[in-house]
Amino acid sequence: AENLKACMVCCKSSWSQLQDLCRLEKVSCTSLGISRKNLCDFEVEYLCDYKKIREQEFYLVKWRGYPDSESTWEPRKNLKCVHILKQFHKDLEREVVRRHGKLKNLRQLDQGLAGFLVQKAKQRRALRRWERELNAKRNHRGRITVENEVDLDGPPRDFVYINEYKVGEGITLNEVAVGCECSDCLAAPAEGCCPGASLNKFAYNDQGQVKLKAGMPIYECNSRCRCGYECPNRVVQKGIRYNLCIFRTANGRGWGVRTLEKIRKNSFVMEYVGEIITSEEAERRGQIYDRQGATYLFDLDYVEDVYTVDAAYYGNISHFVNHSCDPNLQVYNVFIDNLDERLPRIAFFATRTIRVGEELTFDYNMQVDPVDAESTRMDSNFGLAGLTGSPKKRVRIECKCGTESCRKYLF
Ligand SMILES: C[S@@+](CC[C@H](N)C(=O)[O-])C[C@H]1O[C@@H](n2cnc3c(N)ncnc32)[C@H](O)[C@@H]1O
Ligand SMILES: [Zn+2]
Ligand SMILES: [Zn+2]
Ligand SMILES: [Zn+2]
Ligand SMILES: [Zn+2]
Repeated sequence: AENLKACMVCCKSSWSQLQDLCRLEKVSCTSLGISRKNLCDFEVEYLCDYKKIREQEFYLVKWRGYPDSESTWEPRKNLKCVHILKQFHKDLEREVVRRHGKLKNLRQLDQGLAGFLVQKAKQRRALRRWERELNAKRNHRGRITVENEVDLDGPPRDFVYINEYKVGEGITLNEVAVGCECSDCLAAPAEGCCPGASLNKFAYNDQGQVKLKAGMPIYECNSRCRCGYECPNRVVQKGIRYNLCIFRTANGRGWGVRTLEKIRKNSFVMEYVGEIITSEEAERRGQIYDRQGATYLFDLDYVEDVYTVDAAYYGNISHFVNHSCDPNLQVYNVFIDNLDERLPRIAFFATRTIRVGEELTFDYNMQVDPVDAESTRMDSNFGLAGLTGSPKKRVRIECKCGTESCRKYLF
């Protein structure tokens, strides 16, 4: 026994299982945080039903860690879960109005209504879990929230959050070989700083707002540059800064994205990331996606149409950004650590001030005005980046952007 003094065995029960055991056996335990005072507290997972007997209100409680069969009716005074109660009544009222066209004071709920409230509670639980998962995977400052006040759809199946391009088989991103030597990339650029190397212009002002015309490439400072993280020529590489919300649209456009913060005109909002595949592979996948009625393919056709970004399975929050014929986001081609012109990064910048709560959109079919040859390095076309699949035999999707300038179809 002397030899076993320092021996430890891992407990196979979880913390909350042990706490529940204490409560069932009515024993207190300081290490588990169960005192005589909170001995009788259980955690409400969600509420399943409601009834009023004389003037007393009762709720059917699903307890966390217990099966449905252990759910019990509790008088309101036993419940301290203020937030869950509030949400339950909000969902109940909204559904009663939806079903009956007006508010009604119910003494008990029919099976259909109670069933709906359970589904709603389970959906909220699933969405919270997904939200935690998204936030655990993001490497950017902006937080992501998820909200569905429209229907009972839960998190999309088959979507994996990534922060940067995932390069498909046989495709390689080349590491940049040279950087700039500026003492101050904005105020004292040496030979035009990083964009100067390809005779392009410096993209940003001192506020990090893009000042180039749409269609012009952005060349940011890279890992070989002498400047540091705070250089004004490092914007897209710092990632999403704004808190954004993935929400269910109310008019059949699936999920969308809205901003929870004001965004100033010309500010960087997000990058379109996904899997980089060849355009032949995109053609094949596009036909499958067309049949499913949604597309996540973004052609990288800045110089030639060789590669496509597929954000259907691997993507960031841009996966959920919808189309508008009068969008508030504009696409730019960006080069940072990879200078292969066939593989630009796709960045969205605000075309105007975007208010808190406004939905973020871009034009899936955008046309960039040809920039006059003299002010640019290239006088050929710019590769009009657009969300496309196989343009020849596309299924036309009706546009529900609702703007005055709506072109009625997505493609
Ligand atoms: C990149 S996804 C956008 C996110 C999508 N709403 C979702 O729930 O995953 C593109 C798809 O969203 C839908 N969509 C986007 N904008 C739309 C619009 N203006 N009108 C109708 N459907 C739209 C179409 O099904 C389209 O194929
Ligand atoms: Zn520089
Ligand atoms: Zn720099
Ligand atoms: Zn540089
Ligand atoms: Zn439209």
